[in-house]
Amino acid sequence: MNRYSNKASVAADTLALMRLSGKRALVIGGGGAGIGRAVTNAFGAEGAAVVVADIDADRASEAADALREQGFTAYGVAGDVRSLTDIEAMVAGAVEKLGGLDVLVTVVGGQVAFVPAVKLHEMADRDWDTIYEVNLRYVARAVRAALRVFLEQGSGGTIVSVGSVTGFMAAPQQAAYGVMKAGLLSLARTVSAEYAADGIRMNVAAAGAVATAVANAAGDGSWVDEVPVGRLGRSEEVAAAVVYLASDESAYMTGQQLVLDGGVSVRGPFS
Ligand SMILES: NC(=O)c1ccc[n+]([C@@H]2O[C@H](COP(=O)([O-])OP(=O)(O)OC[C@H]3O[C@@H](n4cnc5c(N)ncnc54)[C@H](O)[C@@H]3O)[C@@H](O)[C@H]2O)c1
Repeated sequence: MNRYSNKASVAADTLALMRLSGKRALVIGGGGAGIGRAVTNAFGAEGAAVVVADIDADRASEAADALREQGFTAYGVAGDVRSLTDIEAMVAGAVEKLGGLDVLVTVVGGQVAFVPAVKLHEMADRDWDTIYEVNLRYVARAVRAALRVFLEQGSGGTIVSVGSVTGFMAAPQQAAYGVMKAGLLSLARTVSAEYAADGIRMNVAAAGAVATAVANAAGDGSWVDEVPVGRLGRSEEVAAAVVYLASDESAYMTGQQLVLDGGVSVRGPFS
């Protein structure tokens, strides 16, 4: 394998254009489908060597196989983000398989895929905990494990979390989801303050409504009318932002979020 790329046969001028050449990345959760799959594909195309994790082992290996068929370095692993043991195994496994780690991406999250969308007074206590586990607790755990690796390696590192506009707008019937997504930005800010001097950055890619299986199941789609650009976002558009935030092009950006929402969050009352 070429030291500067995950693809031995890539020409030097092409290599220079690959924004993640030489980066070793772990995409945690959701690597098999939706936004996570798009991130995995984009990372391969941009030259990163990738370990992709998903609770669904078949999806994870399918995503990795597709990259390998194109000549890239990729491994699929099974893991449940609700388990601390699994999180630590995913990070340690990525380090072992890739010979180190430069980029961590956390993707899994949501509310309606896990518990019912209801107003706060109707929400079961256990459901709040579930939303915490699959949106924020695992991210903090994975970030902590990655930080330990980054600090030991001494060559910095980049963390990108997939967030949501619900983290800074009201989230009717998804209060817990909004609170957890808000927590991602808080985490990114603290990571930036504590570790920028070590060359470690964390940012959030905050999406609006994206056309994935979850979004399609969440309603009749009539709310597309509320999106100024007139359509749902594409997973590939979120993945492009994740690539940017993971790459050295965003080297001066940390503790921030990049919003990809078709204009929803800035739409005024008179538009
Ligand atoms: N789809 C949207 O409209 C939208 C909007 C804003 C933000 N987001 C965010 O994007 C991220 C991904 O959403 P998506 O719509 O692509 O989801 P998705 O349902 O399309 O993909 C979810 C993936 O996560 C995996 N997964 C589920 N539970 C897991 C677990 N416990 N451990 C490991 N893997 C698990 C599933 O197998 C699946 O492959 C989430 O953080 C979500 O909050 C999505």
